[in-house]
Amino acid sequence: MTETIRTRVAIVGAGPAGLVLSHLLAASGIESIVVDQRSREEIETTIRAGILEQGTVELLAAIDGSRVHTVGSRHDGIELRFDGAGHRIDFADLVGRAVWLYPQHEALKDLIAARLAAGQDLRFGVTVASVEGADTSSPRVRATDPTGAPLEIEADFVVGADGSRSSVRAAVTGAHGGYFREYPFAWFGILCEAPPSAEELIYSNSPDGFALISQRSPTVQRMYFQCDPEADPHALSEAEIWDTLQKRVPGTTLAEGPIFQRDVLRFRSFVARDLRRGRVAIVGDAAHTVPPTGAKGMNLAVADVILLARALEALLLRGDEAGIDGWADAARQRIWKAQHFSWWMTSMLHVTPDATDFDRLRQLGELRTVVDSDAGRAYLAEAYTGWPLD
Ligand code: PHB
Repeated sequence: MTETIRTRVAIVGAGPAGLVLSHLLAASGIESIVVDQRSREEIETTIRAGILEQGTVELLAAIDGSRVHTVGSRHDGIELRFDGAGHRIDFADLVGRAVWLYPQHEALKDLIAARLAAGQDLRFGVTVASVEGADTSSPRVRATDPTGAPLEIEADFVVGADGSRSSVRAAVTGAHGGYFREYPFAWFGILCEAPPSAEELIYSNSPDGFALISQRSPTVQRMYFQCDPEADPHALSEAEIWDTLQKRVPGTTLAEGPIFQRDVLRFRSFVARDLRRGRVAIVGDAAHTVPPTGAKGMNLAVADVILLARALEALLLRGDEAGIDGWADAARQRIWKAQHFSWWMTSMLHVTPDATDFDRLRQLGELRTVVDSDAGRAYLAEAYTGWPLD
């Protein structure tokens, strides 16, 4: 027996994009269902980056029970470090905006609790096999429930918010794929028990490669250093990891402590060629991936769904198709700006394995061009804190 559910919007994926979209739709009186293949526990404990743009924070803070202002911390700047010296990019002074450090899984705990409290139909352990009928007025999601029994969702619109290995993407892009870029390096990431080494995040370019000194809480820190994409996260001793990190932030002494998690994060830039086909759209990582150097991932997902929620309101409440017809082009403008910024931060700060002396000195010239100029620092500050959502 196949269980069939009928709803207005079927959202695949209970990450930031899917949950924020269900919240925005509910606020307009549009019913939705959210399904995710993962368990609630997996979603709430998978560690991801956590820099939120001011616009993302304003949206999250307005949702009942949000802890973004109590558990998260505001950052009014970052430090760019190169050639042995630090240069502060003062967001408050340059653009009057800020970012918040609030780990994504904490934001997800808030969102899941708020959606469930509001009566949202939110189901975990649901595996989507395919989406059909994109070109009809009632697209369908074919899935299986946690027991393996077939489940079919019939909706007016289907949204794939199911991450980079999206099961919905094929229904939108067909064989078209998208635009890719691979990078010849990755990040070796650690979580350690130590106090913060600095008040703000440090993005450091050094002759040995890039390092990022980030934070999680007063007692837990997150740090990364550029490594080979094939690196084995368990091949280095803790002493070797600290030695590598210390060398990459010359001029700063890092507070060391026991390392309790390590991972290697591969870098990729990707934008799907199509973001919508008929009554099916893809958002967030299902539609695009950015390298983490610009801290844009979750913010871009939220921006996609803010625009999509407006377009769906017009379509589903007023039968107005203009918004949805223009949605992909509108979303793409921000997506490519974020792609550019993420690529730019990455290429400006990392050292490629084949870099010549010319490349190295040119890179220092580029970094100096940014920090020595009000316009250069303001460009970075504006992009990092997030362009306006309207
Ligand atoms: C993180 O804290 O994990 C983090 C912060 C900033 C980035 C990337 C990752 O650009």
